[in-house]
Amino acid sequence: MGNKERYDQFIERNRQAELGGGADKLQKRREAGILSARERIEMLLDKGTFVEIDKFVVHHCTDFEMEKHKYAGDGIVSGYGKVNGRIVFVYAYDFTILGGSLSAANAQKIVKVQSLALKNGAPIVALNDSGGARIQEGVESLSGYASIFYQNTMASGVVPQISAILGPCAGGACYSPALTDFIFMVKEKSHMFVTGPDVVRTVTHEEVSKEELGGAYTHSSKSGVCHFLGNTEEEVILGIRELLGFIPSNNMEDAPKSAVTDDIHREEEALQSVVPDDPNLPYDIKDLIEPVVDDHYFFEVMPHFAKNIVIGFARLGGKSVGIVANQPAYLAGVLDIDASDKAARFIRFCDCFNIPLITFEDVPGFLPGCVQEHNGIIRHGAKIVYAFAEATVPKITLITRKAYGGAYIVMSSKLTGGDVNLAYPTAEIAVMGEEGAVNILYRKANPEEKAEAMAHYRENFANPYKAAELGYIDEIILPKQTRFKLIQALEMTRNKNQSNPPKKHGNMPL
Ligand code: HXC
Repeated sequence: MGNKERYDQFIERNRQAELGGGADKLQKRREAGILSARERIEMLLDKGTFVEIDKFVVHHCTDFEMEKHKYAGDGIVSGYGKVNGRIVFVYAYDFTILGGSLSAANAQKIVKVQSLALKNGAPIVALNDSGGARIQEGVESLSGYASIFYQNTMASGVVPQISAILGPCAGGACYSPALTDFIFMVKEKSHMFVTGPDVVRTVTHEEVSKEELGGAYTHSSKSGVCHFLGNTEEEVILGIRELLGFIPSNNMEDAPKSAVTDDIHREEEALQSVVPDDPNLPYDIKDLIEPVVDDHYFFEVMPHFAKNIVIGFARLGGKSVGIVANQPAYLAGVLDIDASDKAARFIRFCDCFNIPLITFEDVPGFLPGCVQEHNGIIRHGAKIVYAFAEATVPKITLITRKAYGGAYIVMSSKLTGGDVNLAYPTAEIAVMGEEGAVNILYRKANPEEKAEAMAHYRENFANPYKAAELGYIDEIILPKQTRFKLIQALEMTRNKNQSNPPKKHGNMPL
């Protein structure tokens, strides 16, 4: 064979490889409005930057006559490219090849890009769409998952790991996405469950649809497994690009800084009236966050889960920050089990990746009751204090209104390591609200005496001045000054250099 024939042969084999499980299967999915694995990757990466690795890998299974069912690539498209000019590793399951099922060979392909991402300090994005373990390969396939989970764990906290679920994700296969930092899902198209509806029916006699059991809405609003919910695949993939813009490529890099597009001195008069005169009225904490951050743009994470706490990314003076905020508009901003889990994991992500933390605080306390106590609010609530206390990134806290009891302490208070602790004049920093306090201290008093004691308590303790007198609050500021004050605090802490005592790892409450 001459060189010309060799080149032609290569071109033909390449073309075949790019057809995955076949032109007919690709066409069928296209008609159903589903992107192919390669189209998904093209959409994720900057145009023309994708470099595919292991395009001709095939499986080596001979059981079930599998030698007759070999496809170049074997159901995984993997490699690297760029997102906004920065290197990102990627792999996508190709459902057209044996349902995107995981073989030993394509597990090796995944492990190869995971290792490259770790060695070269770049994020890795997994685009999942798979029938799970390749049944024909049995334990070899299961072991493939084991090696992927191992790499997920080793990469945790070193490079950002992002998963999109763009089709089925069943059984133990769910645990690779679960080990990554963020999960994206598409409405009605993505499904994740450890056991599907049929097994559920057999074991627990529950009748449940796959959408109800493990659809995008379920995991966004009920289980807290999913961080971002998209209406379409395109929305999800563009969401991943956007998320990558807020985070560094690895744990040795600083958070990305972009050009300052918004006046750092900008004062918003409207902020003066966001916190209502009546301390018992709700308000939306995002009405404080959005006007303060660059270009009023807040990229919220998990907006549908545990709405009593708000988390997300924004930029202040061009610098990427992570925001954690109690939400008085939902359950009065109380801390409960789900809010604690949601916040703690986000705080730890930001700390892993050198993203400063800004905390907006308006919290009446932890949610009381048997449900919370019996389900472990003690150990779950402990996660927030643990996460804030161990975080060595700059920590800036702003108390807008209520800061009561243990909830005040856990929300990045001064002595848990807050670097800059600010308060509005409307802040109420005390052990508890006036009613609770008076009912304990003046249990036997008559209603008039109690009313008088409550007024006295409000006047003297429900304010920021006691805490400021003791140095637990560094500065009291007006709401309209918030943006510049936060930017000043970020500038002051820019070179913060703090490390925790050397240890193998801490024993975080889980
Ligand atoms: C081998 C598989 C497969 C699998 C699907 N296929 N799943 N091949 N191993 N796990 C093949 C089908 O035989 C079919 O091949 C093609 O992929 C498309 O599948 P369909 O069933 O026709 O597609 P659809 O109707 O869309 O249903 C998709 C599906 C269903 C819901 C994913 O295929 C399914 O339930 N698959 C099994 C899922 C499962 O139980 N996996 C094991 C989970 S346990 P042809 O040749 O007809 O095109 C697990 C353990 C991991 O993964 C443990 C890690 C620790």
